[in-house]
Parts: sequence; structure tokens; C-alpha cells
Amino acid sequence: MADAHDMTGKTVVVTGATSGIGVETAVALGRAGARVLVTGRDRGRGEAAVQDIQRRSGASEVELVVFDLGDLSSVRAGAAEILARCPRIDVLVNNAGIVLSDRRVTPDGLEATFAVNHLGPFLLTELLLDGIKASAPARIVNVASTAHKGARRGLDFDDLQSERSYRSLQVYAKSKLANILFTTELARRLAGTGVTVNSLHPGTVATGYGRDGDTKGVFAFGLKVIKPFILSPERGARTSVFLASAPDVADVTGAYFVRCKPATPTREARSSEAAARLWEASEKLVAERSPG
Ligand SMILES: NC(=O)c1ccc[n+]([C@@H]2O[C@H](COP(=O)([O-])OP(=O)(O)OC[C@H]3O[C@@H](n4cnc5c(N)ncnc54)[C@H](OP(=O)(O)O)[C@@H]3O)[C@@H](O)[C@H]2O)c1
Repeated sequence: MADAHDMTGKTVVVTGATSGIGVETAVALGRAGARVLVTGRDRGRGEAAVQDIQRRSGASEVELVVFDLGDLSSVRAGAAEILARCPRIDVLVNNAGIVLSDRRVTPDGLEATFAVNHLGPFLLTELLLDGIKASAPARIVNVASTAHKGARRGLDFDDLQSERSYRSLQVYAKSKLANILFTTELARRLAGTGVTVNSLHPGTVATGYGRDGDTKGVFAFGLKVIKPFILSPERGARTSVFLASAPDVADVTGAYFVRCKPATPTREARSSEAAARLWEASEKLVAERSPG
């Protein structure tokens, strides 16, 4: 089980908590006393997850907010609902993510993996930031992946939407690289506010991952090869729960963790220039597609 430190009186928002690592993160933080707001894009799956989280955590305050991270106007509506319900947000766990074998486009005309894994969480975080700052000391936890190593040449800022070439694992790797770069730049911007932000690799975890459309080809083969090393979702939630709750990391920010320990991501992921450039590009995309 992923054990959290005492979270009594704290409010936690966990995105993508209708299955996998997100559910277990919510169970552990709820069991530790937090009020938990879980998010998902489907009300039926979300309500089932809330019941499951309540039953397993014993927490009385588990709530659902439904919105689609792949649709910027839906993200705006979701953020507004979270802010209306929560006078404080002590922890935001940006956990939701997808991997897609074929290129799909969101209602905003963006490539879906980039939109769901990076741009949606970017906008959500930005919209919740005043509430998070007002609750400081507070924490933001971004679930990235060791898969970022696959993006050997870093992000292609001339083709962030993968229009020229779409290879699913590359696109996923780049989206997870974006999670780490976003963490770096956000940590820099939040210096001195009492809000920390860290990213992590959860391990390779047996979840519903891939059900959105990458259960074939290299991805499926890779999963078979590594099967003996696959973690349960409970164990996969440990590093998220640690970063969300452990006193040891209360002052740590801008770092990347694996197995609850600081780790060094790739050179591309450590580029402060790329981090600043991604922030600028993300702000521009949001302004063009979904002006506030
Ligand atoms: N599993 C692994 O081995 C592994 C390894 C490294 C990193 N990760 C990372 O861990 C995180 C959690 O993954 P998981 O393995 O637990 O996967 P999962 O079981 O598939 O859960 C993904 C969650 O994201 C939600 N989601 C997907 N698309 C969404 C959208 N458009 N809007 C809102 N929510 C959406 C899903 O909601 P629905 O119920 O609506 O589908 C679900 O709750 C991801 O960021 C992933 O990249 C996983």
C-alpha cells in the first residue's frame, strides 16, 4: 500500500483518478485524512471511482469533478468548478495521461497526446495557481515518466503537434519530457511562494494504460517483455503520494523523482532554455485556442 503522511485538514486534487495510479493516489491521501477531489472525463467511471475510493480509504470527503483535459474550454469549466468548491488547494497531482497509437486531434485542433498530457494540465495548473498559492505551503506533483528518455532530440518546437511525423512512442516520450520541463519552469516561477512542484516516474505499472488506443505494436510487445517487473497500481502510486505528503520533501522543488528518491532526467529534460521555450509556446497555444 502507498502510505501517506498525515493530511488532516488538507485538500488534494488528483487528475485522472478514475483508474490506475490516480485511484491509488487518491485512496492513500484520503486514508491519511485529506479531502480528495478526483477528476475524470467520464461521469459514470468517475462516480464508480469515488465510491471505490471512499470505501477503501474510509474518507468521508471524496468528490468528483468531470472535465476533459483534451478540451481547453472543458479545462476552464473544470478549474472554475474546483475553485468554487475548494476554499483551499494544498496539493494538485497532475496524474492523468494517455498514449495513442494513431494521431488524433482535439476539439481545439491540437494533437491529443500533447493536449491531454501537457497543455490541459498546463492550463489547469495556471487556473488553479492563485488558489494553490493562497494555501501555501502547498505542492504540485506532475506524473511524468522514464519514457521521456525516448525523446532523444528533445522537443521539436517547429512541430509540437506532430503533424510532420507521428510515431506514438516518440509523441508520448515528448509529452512526458514536456511534463519535466513544465515542472522546471513552474518551480522557477514559484520560487519564494511556498509552493513546490516536482515530477516523477511511477515505475512500470499494471493499469488501464493504453486502452485509449495503444495496445498494439511496439507498446504491447514492450509490455510483455517487462511484465515480470510491472508494479501494482498501489506501488505505482508511492512516489506521487510521497511527493504529495512527505515532510522530507516539503522544501524540495523543481526535482524529478523515481522510487521516492531524486533522480537525474536526461540532458534534454534539464534544459532551462527548453523549459522556458515550452512555457512560452504553451501560453501562446492557450491564448490562440482558448482565450480566457
Ligand atoms: N502505467 C505505467 O506504467 C506508467 C509509467 C510511467 C508513467 N505513467 C503515467 O502515470 C499517469 C497515470 O497513468 P495510469 O497508468 O494510471 O493510466 P490509466 O489507468 O489509463 O489512467 C489514466 C487516467 O487519466 C484519465 N484521462 C485520460 N484521458 C483524459 C482526458 N482527456 N481528460 C481527463 N482525464 C483523462 C483517465 O480517465 P478515464 O477513466 O476517463 O479514461 C484515467 O483516470 C499518466 O500520466 C502516465 O503517463 C504510467
